Amino acid sequence: MDQMIRDAAHPHLPRYMVVDAAQFDVSYVINPWMDPDAWARDRANWQARARAGAADLHAALRQAGAQVEIVPSVAGLPDLVFPANAGIVLDRRVLPARFAHPQRQGEEAPYRAAFEAFRGRGLLDEIGQLPDGCFQEGAGDCIWDVRRQFFWTGHGQRSLAAAADEIAAFFARRLVQLELVNPRFYHLDTCFCPLSGGEVLYYPKAFDARGLATIRDHVAADDLIEATDEDAAAFCVNAVSLDRTVIMATAPERLRARLAERGYTVRNVDLVPFILSGGGAYCMTLRLDRSSVMAPATV
Ligand code: ARG
Repeated sequence: MDQMIRDAAHPHLPRYMVVDAAQFDVSYVINPWMDPDAWARDRANWQARARAGAADLHAALRQAGAQVEIVPSVAGLPDLVFPANAGIVLDRRVLPARFAHPQRQGEEAPYRAAFEAFRGRGLLDEIGQLPDGCFQEGAGDCIWDVRRQFFWTGHGQRSLAAAADEIAAFFARRLVQLELVNPRFYHLDTCFCPLSGGEVLYYPKAFDARGLATIRDHVAADDLIEATDEDAAAFCVNAVSLDRTVIMATAPERLRARLAERGYTVRNVDLVPFILSGGGAYCMTLRLDRSSVMAPATV
């Protein structure tokens, strides 16, 4: 269907940016999960499985009621497939990322081009800019909590603590900072996931005592769902929460059951090839219509 007609027909549907997986590869190491040797031993199979996994993720988003905007991949930029790191979006304004590692800095231009194209289509209004050297890796380290009306930010691995001031100034919003102390959980989205009903799925070992105290100060004990080592290693905290559906990499049965008790349906996607790069469902998406205003059916 023609894009304009579809946009006009479903102006209210949640909208996610994704990047096609055609150029996805594991060819360098910038986090402890990345395993180029394992990838190289079976590259053709991993690539086929990655394409199938990405297609199933897109299908899961659509089944949950979302529109999916597929941005083309770029040769030589394998991690472009993780657009949660492209920028922070809220209320039709985007603050594009600055990547800490040279291996990913080439992604800044294509992501900006994608944002400009979305602005051209009327999906975004304004595109900001972080100062040079102010590393901040997008929605991977800055998560809007619609129930609590503030951003949770992560720093200490990729994003700088100082980026928080820039984010607060650009969006004129409150934020709560969490230091990430475990290199395996190098983006906030690997260990922290607010769900649509107000619960927070999180992995305690990614934080120190101070971070845990901050989380407990802001989230009622009843609303805290602790991920186990197994859940975190399966990249299940890196989940897309859309109404009562939680889309995630294949989850341990116990986690599915715990979420079901709270009224959520887990939609599993086989994302093992992406876990070999340190990524899961959430970081393969970027919500473009993220709104500060609570809309119960679409948070
Ligand atoms: N290989 C990528 C990196 O290390 C994975 C990024 C995953 N993104 C995320 N938001 N967790 O940067």
